[in-house]
Amino acid sequence: MQLSTKHLLGIKELTPEDISLILSTAIQFKEVLQRPIKKVPSLRDVTIVNLFYENSTRTRISFELAEKRLSADTINFAASGSSVSKGETLLDTVNNILSMKVDMLVMRHSASGAPHFLARHLPGTAIINAGDGINEHPSQALLDAFSIIEKLGTLQGKKIVLIGDIMHSRVALSNIYLLKKMGAEVKVAGPPTLIPKYIEQALDVQVEYNLRKALEWCDVANVLRIQLERQNQVLFSSLREYNLSYGVTLAMLDALKKDIVIMHPGPINRGVEIDSDVADSRHSIILQQVENGVAVRMAILYLLAGSKS
Ligand code: CP
Repeated sequence: MQLSTKHLLGIKELTPEDISLILSTAIQFKEVLQRPIKKVPSLRDVTIVNLFYENSTRTRISFELAEKRLSADTINFAASGSSVSKGETLLDTVNNILSMKVDMLVMRHSASGAPHFLARHLPGTAIINAGDGINEHPSQALLDAFSIIEKLGTLQGKKIVLIGDIMHSRVALSNIYLLKKMGAEVKVAGPPTLIPKYIEQALDVQVEYNLRKALEWCDVANVLRIQLERQNQVLFSSLREYNLSYGVTLAMLDALKKDIVIMHPGPINRGVEIDSDVADSRHSIILQQVENGVAVRMAILYLLAGSKS
C-alpha cells in the first residue's frame, strides 16, 4: 500500500485511505518502540533535514527521534544562527542543503503555505509540513487521531470538541479536516473573537460558546493554547478573564455525569486554558500524545520514503 501523495503538506490533501494507512503503520512502529532495541534499518541511506524556522520542542525532537529510530541520517537546521540572518531566501537555503544530497525535508515555518511553496519548486523532494503559520500541523492531527483511537477504539461517531483559540490554531484546522474525513462529530468552542466567522459553513463544524455545554456534549476535549504570538490585536481582555470563562477545571470535569478524555498538543499554559490538576489528572492523555508522536512520525517518514526494508 502506498500514500496517494509524495508530500505531507496538510491533512486537506490526504484521503481517508491515506490517513488509515499512516495510522495502521504507526501501530507497527509503536510495537518497535516497546522493544529493548528500538531501532529498525528501514531508512538506512536516507538523509533527512529538519528545517525549523520557528521554535519547537515536541515536534522537532519527535521527528529527529523518529528518523534515528528508522536509521536515517539526520541534519538539524535552525534559522536562528544560520545564514538566513544575512538575507538568504528560503529557496536558496533549501537548494544549498539539497545539493548536499538530502532526500527529505521536514519543515516548520511561521508563514502559512511555506511547505507548499517548496513542494512547487522542488517536486522531486519529499516535503513534510511540521507546522506552517496558522494553516496546518498534519503530523499533530495524525498523532491526536492515533491517541483517540488507542483510548476509545475508533474515531467513527465520536464527539470531539476543540477548545480555545481556533482562529490562530493550525492544530485545530488539521484536526477538523482529519476528524471529519474519518467520521467523527466535531465542535469548536471558545470566545467569539477566537472563532472564525462562517466556520460552520466553511468546515461543517458546530460552534459552542459555552464551555460547560461543550464538555457535557463531548467524548474528547482537545484544549488549545492561545497563540498570543500570532495575534496583532487584543481579542480578549486578560488571561485571567479567559481562564475564568474558558479554562478547563477539575471541578467542571467532576460535575459531568461521564468521563471525558482531555488532550492538549502542547505547550501548555497552566492556569490559562487548562488547570494543572486537569493536565495531570487521570482524564489527561497529554503525555501519551507525545509518546505516540514518534511512532506516527516514523510511519509518515517510512511511507513517504518508500519501503526499503
Ligand atoms: N505540539 C507542538 O507542535 O509542539 P511544539 O511547538 O513544541 O513542537
